[in-house]
Amino acid sequence: MCGGPACAGGSSRKLASVPHRPTPQAPGRYDGDTMAHDFSNPLNLQSGALQRPEGQFPVRPVPEYLADGDLLPAYADLKAALGVPWVGVITQAVAHYRPFFLQAWAQFSANAKTAYFAHRCDHLRELALEQVQAHLPATPQRARLRAMGYSERELAQIAATLDVFNAGNPAYLVLATAIKESLCFGRTLGGTPASPQDLLPRAAVHPTGAVPVMVEPHHAGPDVLAVYGRIKATLNLPFVNSDYKAMARWPSYLQLAWGDLEPLVGHPAYNAARQQVHAAAVATVAQLPHAYTMRHAEALAAGLSDEQAQELMRVISLFQWLLSGLIVNVTQCRLALSS
Ligand code: 2OP
Repeated sequence: MCGGPACAGGSSRKLASVPHRPTPQAPGRYDGDTMAHDFSNPLNLQSGALQRPEGQFPVRPVPEYLADGDLLPAYADLKAALGVPWVGVITQAVAHYRPFFLQAWAQFSANAKTAYFAHRCDHLRELALEQVQAHLPATPQRARLRAMGYSERELAQIAATLDVFNAGNPAYLVLATAIKESLCFGRTLGGTPASPQDLLPRAAVHPTGAVPVMVEPHHAGPDVLAVYGRIKATLNLPFVNSDYKAMARWPSYLQLAWGDLEPLVGHPAYNAARQQVHAAAVATVAQLPHAYTMRHAEALAAGLSDEQAQELMRVISLFQWLLSGLIVNVTQCRLALSS
């Protein structure tokens, strides 16, 4: 069992170090919000903003197979409460700061089990769908994939895999937004339900199956590694999200799907869709039916050092920033696969 600061990060491995990238970012990339920075804030972050954190910091996810002790039941509860078959990299990365993660999840989980949370996650998913459908027209993929040899059965398997991420990513975005807003800006979120219905339990979550097969970089051949490199460069990320690693189960599909998506990233319509999804997540955490408070003081009280808390602020800000883009990206892939 592990509870003290020395344990924060005990069994995890370092995934990647995030290089400093001055803003604005390179043309053609998403360049964050245009709101003024608050220079009194040492992290240069602003509450509610869609903003990539600056500076050097490590991202050290604790993968499911390395979870031990009190992290095992927390990961199981997280998957059951969110109704997802995989522990998102966002939660794996926060779990590196184990005493914080366990308390944050213990507080947030009551929200994840409410009708409010389920409705808002559905709203985020639908918003992304609407935005992508209206503004990011897909190049049809079915005929091209059929010509490459993909059967209807295989296309259905890919669609089902994308559906898993499309269903789960909004929940991870809401969770990331709550963690960021409270930790970085000292906010207590929610606690006064707008309606008694918000507190009702969400519909039962049915078992959602095995963790999707994911091609880790050390499994991948040169073609998949090359696509991973393009994904990281285009999205300005030091790692590849689970969604793309699951798509890489079909390497030629990943290559085609990413080739269609890549030119859209950074387009004004893409940025606008992403901003809308982000704004809906920010609005969602303000109205959480159960209060969520894990500020800097609570992080220290949980057992993190100040240095760990500062590092975690950057890590959670990176994930909160990337998730709106990931939602738009996977929605685009799913729509393109149906056409
Ligand atoms: C990930 O696990 C949350 O889908 C996101 O990469």
